[in-house]
Amino acid sequence: MTSDSSLPKASSPRTILVTGGSSGLGLATCHALADAGNTAIGIVDINAEATEAALAELRAKGVPCAAAVGDITTRDSAEALTAEIVKALGGLTGLVNCAGVYPRRPILDITDADWDFSFSVNVRGLYNMTIAAVARMEGNAPVRNIRGRVLNVSSIDAFKPHPKNAHYAAMKAAVVSLTRSLGLELAPKGILVNGIAPAGIATAKAHAAGFVPELTAQSAIGRAAEPEDIADVIAFMMSDANRYMVGETVVTAGGYYIP
Ligand SMILES: NC(=O)c1ccc[n+]([C@@H]2O[C@H](COP(=O)([O-])OP(=O)(O)OC[C@H]3O[C@@H](n4cnc5c(N)ncnc54)[C@H](O)[C@@H]3O)[C@@H](O)[C@H]2O)c1
Repeated sequence: MTSDSSLPKASSPRTILVTGGSSGLGLATCHALADAGNTAIGIVDINAEATEAALAELRAKGVPCAAAVGDITTRDSAEALTAEIVKALGGLTGLVNCAGVYPRRPILDITDADWDFSFSVNVRGLYNMTIAAVARMEGNAPVRNIRGRVLNVSSIDAFKPHPKNAHYAAMKAAVVSLTRSLGLELAPKGILVNGIAPAGIATAKAHAAGFVPELTAQSAIGRAAEPEDIADVIAFMMSDANRYMVGETVVTAGGYYIP
């Protein structure tokens, strides 16, 4: 599946950083954003090999792009990774917080290490990257009153019980909450913070793990979401056409669960 070519085109030059942009939904998001034209893409990811491959795909399309390989879980590393992207691409107008981890553990067996790992990437890393990005976006010239956009990737699991992965679901609920608070705080500064809550996606990893039949059965549409189904919604939310959403998380779940 490819991105929808009728999505809004970027009306002015923009530079968007995508965390976790080297695989799965993050990579599809890089392509969907780039396909809007006028867009430079920065990838921040911990996986060096996958990041090089992702950059090669974007370069082959003629997209201006750069990457910073590292871990988003500390404030210092998130700041350094963001600085590297801004230096390479000359600015920042948007951030997609897509990096995430979701190792499963039954609810009665979750260890301290499981909690800490899930929190460090899914919540603290997302927060760290947002703080670093907002510091750059505040100084941008406003376009229709907007200086920048942040999009947080949550999950449908934020809204429903998930005893097979309760710590992940709790972290994604925290992302919904952070999106609300950051949205309200930053809107007066011209920065729109919003989120998306997808259901299971038929990524390459989901195919390899044999999850796709289960995802298909859960969908009211009769098929699992392709990464592009979600990436196109993100591309819209990162476009100039999104100018009045503040702190909102858009459920995009094919009817799997309707909160
Ligand atoms: N796949 C799904 O079914 C699904 C459903 C709902 C929500 N989501 C969310 O979508 C996002 C992407 O999921 P995906 O399935 O594409 O996952 P993925 O594992 O393919 O991609 C995640 C990326 O994040 C990077 N990453 C992980 N930890 C990092 C760290 N500490 N610092 C920097 N980068 C790091 C990984 O290297 C990887 O490239 C996640 O936030 C996930 O929770 C996924």
